[in-house]
Amino acid sequence: MIILGIETSCDETAAAVIEAKKDKIKVDILSNVIATSMSLHTKTGGIIPEVAAREQIKYLIPVIDEALKKSKLSKDKIDAIAVTVGPGLIGSLLVGVETARTLSYIWQKPLIPVNHLYGHIYANWIRNQSNGEIKFPAICLVVSGGHTDLVLMLNHEKIKWLGGTIDDAAGEAFDKIGRLLNLPYPAGPIIESISNKANVDIYDFPRPIINSNNFDFSFSGLKSAVMREVEKIKHNNLSENDIKNISFSTQNAIIDVLIQKTLKACRRYNATSLLLGGGVSANQALRKKLELEIGNQKLEIALFVPEKQLCTDNAAMIATAAFFNYEEVSWQKVEANPELYFD
Ligand code: KG4
Ligand code: ZN
Repeated sequence: MIILGIETSCDETAAAVIEAKKDKIKVDILSNVIATSMSLHTKTGGIIPEVAAREQIKYLIPVIDEALKKSKLSKDKIDAIAVTVGPGLIGSLLVGVETARTLSYIWQKPLIPVNHLYGHIYANWIRNQSNGEIKFPAICLVVSGGHTDLVLMLNHEKIKWLGGTIDDAAGEAFDKIGRLLNLPYPAGPIIESISNKANVDIYDFPRPIINSNNFDFSFSGLKSAVMREVEKIKHNNLSENDIKNISFSTQNAIIDVLIQKTLKACRRYNATSLLLGGGVSANQALRKKLELEIGNQKLEIALFVPEKQLCTDNAAMIATAAFFNYEEVSWQKVEANPELYFD
């Protein structure tokens, strides 16, 4: 089966073509095209929704065109169209959803609405050389700019939300703290690379609700603690050394909380697989420390992390989620839903 995926929930304009073979274990990417308006948002220090949507209107058709060209398939070979319907920015979602509805009607192809959060989880079902078959039960940590959620997956049909952030998402914490440190948006990858130059956790920032008896997260207290520290230093101006040390301590605090809660969920539900997804899972320090902790705690669990470019928003993950949860909906009924969440 060949699926064309479309993703426009935030600032990316993405289209991809995937092929699902009969084994139904993993899917293959035939093309994966992403245009981003990030340079515009870097200038403003964050995403301005209307700017993002206007760029998406300009680029979506050329991006779909390129995805088809790169797949070397004509539109006639497409079996279905998958589109992100939420959660996300309403203007951005509408661009993708209305385009997908139109193509479904004109090309007479089935349309499958996809929850963006499921997309991040299903990025793990895209084949690469190192990842094998995913066995259930699986715990999934979706950790991005908008979300920090722990989910239990018993099979493709049974997915249960265990907990999530009660304030800022982990990626949002990276980005907001980056702003305090005068780093460009998005700050997550920059904080990671700056942290690589440090090795002592000088500040030992708070790890909010790390020991709470649930699977919720909170990062706004961490942001306030960093703000207080930055205000103290500001009189003498932040030096490169301060930025390096604060970055490292911030990353450590975020990673510690994510790992402690995630492994608690793995133990509680006897998970055999642990899946990461979302922009923050591109963070190598998170992966390494997680692998180390799995070993330390002698957990028999296989860790899956998508390839770096599949951790952040893309359309291949949307097409993959559609394949494993193939529910066709008439184009007249498919709607953007910015508030969509886990069921
Ligand atoms: O999944 P994504 O592309 O978009 C959302 O759905 O939010 O995630 C973007 C987020 C941003 O907050 C960015 O700072 C963060 O992921 N991010 C990282 C890294 N790469 C991206 N955070 C920490 N370390 C990274 N290497
Ligand atoms: Zn995302």
